[in-house]
Amino acid sequence: MIGRARARAAQWLAGYPSITTQEHWTAVDRYICDRLLSQDRVLDGALAASDAAGLPPIATSANQGKLLELLVRVHGARRILELGTLGGYGTIWLARGLPQDGRLVTLEAEPRFAEVARANIASAGLAEVVELRVGPALETLPALEAEGAAFDLIFIDADKQNDPAYLEWSLRLSRPGSLIIADNVIGAGAIIDPDARNPWGEGGGVQGVRRFYDLLGAEPRLSATAIQTVGDKGHDGFALALVTDAQ
Ligand code: DHB
Ligand code: MG
Repeated sequence: MIGRARARAAQWLAGYPSITTQEHWTAVDRYICDRLLSQDRVLDGALAASDAAGLPPIATSANQGKLLELLVRVHGARRILELGTLGGYGTIWLARGLPQDGRLVTLEAEPRFAEVARANIASAGLAEVVELRVGPALETLPALEAEGAAFDLIFIDADKQNDPAYLEWSLRLSRPGSLIIADNVIGAGAIIDPDARNPWGEGGGVQGVRRFYDLLGAEPRLSATAIQTVGDKGHDGFALALVTDAQ
């Protein structure tokens, strides 16, 4: 029956126009941003500074950044942990969703990226809200646990080969009700092909993300899904996982 329903849906969709080029996705992202997002000198400046410093051009897109801000607000998050600061563009979006007394800790392995991020975060007026810790996350996460930190929302967006370890750390640094979001869980579809050319460099990214999915699916304390996206940043997607009180 499910097979029949899927076949009918596929037949229905076959009548839709199919324009699947990067150019078209980018134009549609522009349409969305022009109508729904305000011009923002701070965010534009953060991107320009990241570009001038030669950071990889992989910051979250504007409409996805806005989604992060909205998720923070919908969730009422007061404590956020971000893994992978890059130039701080996504950090600024996340921090903007926080209430007055909210705080965000962000972890960045690359000192050169962190320096750019620190300036961008200060320009956004968020130096008192955001704490940036420099060093590989697997080396800085234990200190957070030792300090008794617990986060309402965790955004995983660092080196993809360590996504499984980041998920385990996220469970240790959260509580029932916390939301875990992971970026880049589709990789232009590479995720379903273990032999695909690695879209995240040579560090075992695809295998890391595939193990991340396996952990996510097997972990009774998490209720999760993942969503494919297209846009400025090609075909990718994010995973959302709610920490439950299941044992
Ligand atoms: C890459 C990393 C990201 O976090 C992202 O959003 C897009 C691409 C990368 O390493 O290629
Ligand atoms: Mg990313």
